[in-house]
Amino acid sequence: MSVLRGLFLTSVAALAAQSAVAQDLRTDALDYFKPLPSTVPAVADNPITEEKIDLGKALFFDPRLSASGVFSCYSCHNLTTGGDDNMETSVGHGWQKGPRNSPTVLNAVFNEAQFWDGRADDLKAQAKGPIQAGVEMANTPENVVATLSSMGDYVTWFTDAFPEDGEPVSFDNMAKAIEAFEATLLTPAPFDAWLNGDDAAMTEDQVAGSGACSWIRAVCRATPV
Ligand code: HEC
Repeated sequence: MSVLRGLFLTSVAALAAQSAVAQDLRTDALDYFKPLPSTVPAVADNPITEEKIDLGKALFFDPRLSASGVFSCYSCHNLTTGGDDNMETSVGHGWQKGPRNSPTVLNAVFNEAQFWDGRADDLKAQAKGPIQAGVEMANTPENVVATLSSMGDYVTWFTDAFPEDGEPVSFDNMAKAIEAFEATLLTPAPFDAWLNGDDAAMTEDQVAGSGACSWIRAVCRATPV
């Protein structure tokens, strides 16, 4: 066997070994992570439409959902800083400091349950909480519906988003629209493409780094939730 041929075969074998290692890492990672999808997932009891997403987006950014007219969902879930407020605990109504840290809303649609203690089943149940919480937006459902009904654009948007509903402007529908918008807050990354089988999505170093998954797993398992 010529030296060149020998070299060639050695490098082919090395490449094959490398890709086998990458494959093992992927299989290992898939035991613990599911790839984030790049399309909006379906949610229970709330078919997602463009109209609902647009309405939910307007609501998410609107401080008029709070009693003071100062706080919106975005105040504590800033989408340009990772979907939270980067503070130890959040500041809400009357500049009160709340008891808890605000988690990110990014990819929250995939949470098994919402809030640190999982007390809301899904995002539509969750959205009603902060609006009524004394330290957050301190409002009442009646007042929210009265405020939204007083604005012609909102009445049109609610009617477009809930065309079958005799009373489209309601607290329930507000929560459903916010859930629809939040379901669009997804951040699929190269790691997800790699999990999906795209070898070119990550560099060799990054793939090797995915071995760090083992470390993350060890930490997550050791930390009670
Ligand atoms: C004053 C700050 C503040 C405002 C305003 C606020 N939130 Fe939150 N949010 C928090 C805090 C703090 C938590 C965690 C509370 C807990 O677990 O008890 C939270 C939890 C959440 C969660 C759960 C995420 C998870 O991983 O469990 C979602 C989703 C969410 N908020 C969405 C919203 C929406 C939608 C609005 C507007 C209707 C809103 N928030 C308004 C501070 C705020």
